[in-house]
Amino acid sequence: MELNKKNSINNILEENRTFPPSKEFSNSAIIKSKKDLFDLREKARKNPNEFWDSYAKTEIDWFRPYETVLDRNKAPFFRWFPEGQLNITYNCLDRHIKNGLGDKNALIWEGEPGDSKTYSYKDLLKEVCKAANALKSLGVKKGELVCIYMPMIPEAMIAMLACARIGAPHSVVFGGFSSESLKDRVIDGNAKFIITADGGYRKDKVIELKKAVDSAIDSGAGDVVNKVIVIKRTNKEISMKLNRDFWWHELLENQDDWCEPEIMNSEDRLFILYTSGSTGKPKGVVHTIAGYNLWTHLTFKWIFDIKSDDIYWCTADVGWITGHSYIVYGPLSNGSTTLMYEGVPRPSNLGAFWQIIQKYKVSIFYTAPTAIRSFMKSGREIPDKYDLSSLRLLGTVGEPINPEAWIWYKDVIGNNQCPIVDTWWQTETGGVMISPLPGAIDTKPGSATLPLPGIEVEIVNKEGSRVEINEGGYLIIRKPWPGMMRTIHGNSQRFLESYWDFIPHKEEPFVYFAGDGARIDNDGYVWIMGRVDDVISVSGHRLGTMEIESALVSHESVAEAAVVGKKDELKGEAIVAFVSLEKNFKNSDQLVDEIKLHVVSEIGVIAKPEKIIITDSLPKTRSGKIMRRILRSLASGEKVSGDISTLEDSSVLEKLKKDS
Ligand code: PRX
Repeated sequence: MELNKKNSINNILEENRTFPPSKEFSNSAIIKSKKDLFDLREKARKNPNEFWDSYAKTEIDWFRPYETVLDRNKAPFFRWFPEGQLNITYNCLDRHIKNGLGDKNALIWEGEPGDSKTYSYKDLLKEVCKAANALKSLGVKKGELVCIYMPMIPEAMIAMLACARIGAPHSVVFGGFSSESLKDRVIDGNAKFIITADGGYRKDKVIELKKAVDSAIDSGAGDVVNKVIVIKRTNKEISMKLNRDFWWHELLENQDDWCEPEIMNSEDRLFILYTSGSTGKPKGVVHTIAGYNLWTHLTFKWIFDIKSDDIYWCTADVGWITGHSYIVYGPLSNGSTTLMYEGVPRPSNLGAFWQIIQKYKVSIFYTAPTAIRSFMKSGREIPDKYDLSSLRLLGTVGEPINPEAWIWYKDVIGNNQCPIVDTWWQTETGGVMISPLPGAIDTKPGSATLPLPGIEVEIVNKEGSRVEINEGGYLIIRKPWPGMMRTIHGNSQRFLESYWDFIPHKEEPFVYFAGDGARIDNDGYVWIMGRVDDVISVSGHRLGTMEIESALVSHESVAEAAVVGKKDELKGEAIVAFVSLEKNFKNSDQLVDEIKLHVVSEIGVIAKPEKIIITDSLPKTRSGKIMRRILRSLASGEKVSGDISTLEDSSVLEKLKKDS
């Protein structure tokens, strides 16, 4: 996206409606007023170390206290609370039991075929300990990466926590990714262990996870993987290899239900999570224990204004950062009740979400704009059939929300009673960075509103100078924060180049570049405009155009490929691929379908191109660079505008128009 004043004002609906929280909501909120919020922001601005220290001391339990809040010596490889020792599972489980919450529900789980289960804090700790002991019995050591490739079942959460209990970082791979993607991640992380299931249920189908693990191992991951633990979920026949594959239920059967939490250093790794960037393969974002614990804890508490009797539900998958931070660690660290659902709404059950809210009296609901838009499309008659009166707060995440969807969400789902928190953040930021604090400020549909206390956001141009009010620019974060990523696994150079070297800054030696464009309005509210790099967001799922292009060219028929995002009413963006074929292949519907399926098997169904345009001519500059700007206009059916004088062959444009 090219950013300038004109497009930021023209392209984005100027939205001036404001919605204050109700008096009742504000009165009982943790942060009750704009003044309280601004005081906190000021406190953090004046003395960040003191600010973070005050929360780290009170909100986190330490086995050994830290001495330093922030170590900048190797910046931008910042280190938080470096001398401290802790275990995040102690903060998520043990301490609540010690505080008398042992019988409180930690996890409510609803299975896709209609089965369900609840775990109290005591139950969850026992299961985590058993799983932790089972991992130890298989030889998992502190510091060794464990890959988790699972459906949305309680064991996914238990496996993550079991790893954290014994100090083994986890690398969760979304269950919708293909065996190829799994293989890449396992090899990159050097994960010797995989925890998976025989299969999982998704949209009335069974996904064969163990089969995908087997093919990942057969096609290269076998050089790395020693052991596979398999949870029985679907009961479908699968093959189990002697001495390599172990059933979870058999391993756990005789394990002790107590496992001492490993004493971990603040900066030990908690997990790696892969995310797409504009270049190369997905990058393994590294998060470490203490800072992440503090940031997910605090943001969860502030943003969801959590009360002891709340039933909180985030509809994300644990395979994404939202699931890590706001299904598992944030809620549990706060001693809350978190709900997990195995399925997604599907044509055969469009009311699935509302039924769950009604059944469990969910009070806080956190979902993605794409989901809201699809509910809107199928009409309010569906949610209107259910009792949603337990809801008191609604949230969105992952992509910009259009004001119409925001208003619909507030009106139809929230009965105009619930504030909406539109939360902006990233895999890299660990937790939310920009969001309303629901009792404190007025919301505006489509704006994530203000940065949280301690988070210093600025919008700048390429030279690093602050842009004017309402002018589009690059979103940067000026000060380090505890939940920030620490590096890219195995590639610290890419970490520096992707996030820290892009924008020069006059006052701060290191500013974090988020990859998003944004503007700030007269009230200081942030309006996210989308990615400014070659990353596209399909239903809030982040995909690199280069990743999809590599998948395309790995098909025998494809000579060259260029991928762009096209605006899509439902999904935010849809993938359009321009492809030129090898000489001995001919364009046909069958070939196009085959290429689409090839991308699915290389990456996963989320990367399936909506449209493939076969063409002989891709628009290139004289130096051979593909001019994506032209392709984006063509894909969206817009007039190609702007300078095209750098095109190597201007006749390409006419040919392309014919092909598109
Ligand atoms: O472009 C922004 C968009 O999602 C990107 C981060 O993607 P990911 O790391 O997969 O994490 C998604 C869940 C936190 C951002 O760079 N994004 C995220 N939240 C919002 C958003 N765009 C607009 N509004 C949001 N609330």
